Order: sequence, then C-alpha cells, then structure tokens
Amino acid sequence: MQKFLSAHDVADIESLVNKALFYKSNPLSDSSLGAGKRIGCIFMNPSMRTRLSTQIAAKNLGIEPILLNAGSEGWALEFEDDAIMNGTTVEHIKDAARVFGQYFDILAVRAFPAFKNREDDYSEHIMKQIVKYSGLPVVSLESATLHPLQSLADIITMTEKKPAGRPKVVLTWAPHIKSIPHCVANSFAQWVNKWDKADFVITHPEGYDLDSSFTSGAQITHNQKEALEGADFVYVKNWSSYNDYGAVLNTDTSWMLTNAHLENTNDAKVMHCLPVRRNIELSGEVLDGPNSIVTHQAGNRVWAAQAVLSEILKA
Ligand code: CP
Repeated sequence: MQKFLSAHDVADIESLVNKALFYKSNPLSDSSLGAGKRIGCIFMNPSMRTRLSTQIAAKNLGIEPILLNAGSEGWALEFEDDAIMNGTTVEHIKDAARVFGQYFDILAVRAFPAFKNREDDYSEHIMKQIVKYSGLPVVSLESATLHPLQSLADIITMTEKKPAGRPKVVLTWAPHIKSIPHCVANSFAQWVNKWDKADFVITHPEGYDLDSSFTSGAQITHNQKEALEGADFVYVKNWSSYNDYGAVLNTDTSWMLTNAHLENTNDAKVMHCLPVRRNIELSGEVLDGPNSIVTHQAGNRVWAAQAVLSEILKA
C-alpha cells in the first residue's frame, strides 16, 4: 500500500480487516517490522483517539512516532498555491511538506475542512499537496472529506459483532449544536458500499443529502423510524448540510437516538466514532446501555492503524 487516504487505496477490505484482527490477537507479532523507521504524526486539529491509537500501532510495529501539533504549536501554514504571504501565515505547506520528507519514512496527517468553500475542501487540496511535496507514503488521520482509519475500525467492529447472514446497517443523522464536517459519514458510506457485505440504509432530514459519490449504493430515506426497523447496526453521526455547505438546517431533537428508537430494531448495536455530545447527539441511556459498542469501536482504532502501517511498511 503506497498511501491510505480513502477506501480506494485498499485492494481488499476483507483481507485488511483480517490482518487487523490478527494483530488484535497478536499485537507484537511484527514488532521489528518498522525498526529504524519514523512516522511523523501531524495534527492541524484536535484529536484523542486518532492521536493515541496511531502511536500505539506504530510502536507495536517498532516504528518511532513523532508528533507535531501543527495547528496549535507549529508555524501558521499557508495552503494557497501562489499566495503572497503578507498576512498571518508564516510557512507554506509546500515547504513544510518537503521538510517532513527529510525527517520521516511515513507521514500521517489530520487536516479538517476549512468550511469556507466546498470546492476547495472537496478537492482535498491540502492532502494532495502533502502527498506531492513530502514524497512519503501518507496516511490520512482525517481529511477535509474522509476519515478512513475510523471507517476501517468501524468495519472491523461490525465484522466482529455481526449476526449470521447479511446485516442491516443504518447510518442515521443526529442533531448537534455546531456545524460538523461530513468526513465520518462520507467515509462510512464509502467503506460500507465497497465492503458490500451489508444492506445499507442512510436516514437524515431533508437538506442533509451527502455527496452522492460516497453514498451511491445505499438506500436513502427521510423516515428514520422506517430506516431503523430490523437494523443490526445503527451508526449515529451528525453532519452539516452538503448542498447549503456547512449550514445547520435542523435541530429536531426527535432524531436523537434513545432506547425507544431501538424498539423495532434487531436489538441493534449502536456505533459512534466519538467524541459525542451526550443527550444532544446520542442519549446517555443508549451510550451507557447494553446496545452501545462505541468503546469497543474506539479500541479497534489501534488494530486498524496497525494493519495499515504494516501494509505500508511491506510495500
Ligand atoms: N474518532 C476520532 O477520530 O476521534 P479523535 O478526534 O479523538 O481522534
């Protein structure tokens, strides 16, 4: 694997999931694979799970992780190609990425959308510049439009927890007080569609259609109650509007998943990428109840990262 920016970089999802599950049972089986290698973990935005799980995964493979909180501790970065840098930015991403290329063997980067312009965000301009100018294998730690390590962990989790047969997987929009990126929802849709081992339904209020290049293949409905019927997995996530880019169009609290919402499911397992705003996005009773697998899901972030880093090292 030369890079890990989306599901398109994975030849066979099932075999990558099996590799992750092998590492879950045998964490140190390849503890010398990355000896003498360094991974730069560059965070332009906050993180807990991604930051910790990526470091643990790297160490399990013998890779030395080095972190830079570029968003809060680095020089203010410029991303415009031909910028005249007479404002607040101090270093161009081209120059920074070239320097990363001198220090590391693998680069892992988190760069959220700026939410100023949809075309800019959806062009993945920042990740593309980092790939181009660093010359390194790049792993997305969440980009403007996608969160592939999260999605791989989600597929690992459903593989472990699914009942016999083809599960029904429902991605449901949830309320939130802020304008939230589309990355987790886009990415989950892209991966579940490529995985092709579930009946996949997406439910959201009007105005919240995601980019169809990610959702195509899923059944889409505005009727949450109907969508949840018979569900084996319910993935809860807020996202802001794609068409009215970044807008919060709906705060209807009836979309927040409670135990009552689970009554007509197939005793569904409830998933969320975390962090979650309790009793806004997802009820405390579900999060603390027997249907929630969010902690298990977060645990699988280590094995997802380890499988990906291992594939990159072996390329
Ligand atoms: N799910 C996830 O990416 O968590 P963090 O933002 O804490 O890394």
